[in-house]
Amino acid sequence: MHPAIAVTGLGKAFGRQSVLADLDFTVAAGEVFALLGPNGAGKTTTINILTTLTLPDEGSAIVAGIDVVRDPEQVKQRISLTGQSVAVDDVLTGAENLIMLGRLSGLSNSAARARAGELLDRFDLTDAATKRVGAYSGGMRRRLDLALSFVVTPEILFLDEPTTGLDTRSRRELWDTIRSLAQSGTTVFLTTQYLEEADQLADRVAVLDGGRVVAIGTAAELKARIGGDTVELHDPHGGLLAEVPTDGTVTGLRGALDVLDESGAEGVVTLRRPSLDDVFLALTSAGGRPTEPSSMKEIA
Ligand SMILES: Nc1ncnc2c1ncn2[C@@H]1O[C@H](COP(=O)(O)OP(=O)(O)OP(=O)(O)O)[C@@H](O)[C@H]1O
Ligand SMILES: [Mg+2]
Repeated sequence: MHPAIAVTGLGKAFGRQSVLADLDFTVAAGEVFALLGPNGAGKTTTINILTTLTLPDEGSAIVAGIDVVRDPEQVKQRISLTGQSVAVDDVLTGAENLIMLGRLSGLSNSAARARAGELLDRFDLTDAATKRVGAYSGGMRRRLDLALSFVVTPEILFLDEPTTGLDTRSRRELWDTIRSLAQSGTTVFLTTQYLEEADQLADRVAVLDGGRVVAIGTAAELKARIGGDTVELHDPHGGLLAEVPTDGTVTGLRGALDVLDESGAEGVVTLRRPSLDDVFLALTSAGGRPTEPSSMKEIA
């Protein structure tokens, strides 16, 4: 079986500004793949190229076995995209929008109605079903936008920062929806600035910074790349007094404790596993270089 997405040497510039450089990655069919990066990293540009909205300048992108430049129409038939710009008809109600898209996508009238009902329920829009979309709040609009991308199950679903603007409960429901879609075989390619989201959802994560992939792997592999646990010293109220990174060995741990001991600071010692946050800070320009092992960082 061909990979769902294969990107080779992909590059894009807007005028003189290079936005993507030499991007290489492959997403297997059925995989949930997250592109993680800060503002301006090039996430939307990547999604736009993969969904045929923007032409690349260099390299190639094959989606569902089809070249996005040579045959964009074929690619569009195999994918679904949710971004900030999906067309929703303000004059229609939420239910009508969902039913209309279902009918346009080839569902029978009764199937389209049933699907609309399920999605209104899942995205907590039942109360808003008969309200015109023009009167929706920003959050309701966002949930309807997402519901629309689940009307028919595509081979590959692209989600550009799907949980931005959602409250915690809607975010968790969307995660469940994405997981069940992936279990039924859909490939999911999503972008996010939330480390927790990539960690929770993705089989593999690519960290994008300044238009380059700076790391790629499972969340566990990325965490392993930045080393071992951090020894933390807390005051009795849980406030962080100091932290010392370790290399994960017994000797490293003993060394870290010695450093804390010599500092004379009093408190409770705990161990913290590296989070994806630590990976991100270590790998992108946002955080500079990782802290040297056995150097203590005092928290003001
Ligand atoms: N149409 C365009 N014309 C000129 N520059 C653009 C265009 N689209 C994007 N850029 C620039 O390309 C860079 C990457 O933008 P992109 O939208 O891909 O980033 P992003 O990772 O999606 O960021 P965000 O997290 O803010 O959505 C930015 O510097 C942006 O200003
Ligand atoms: Mg973006």
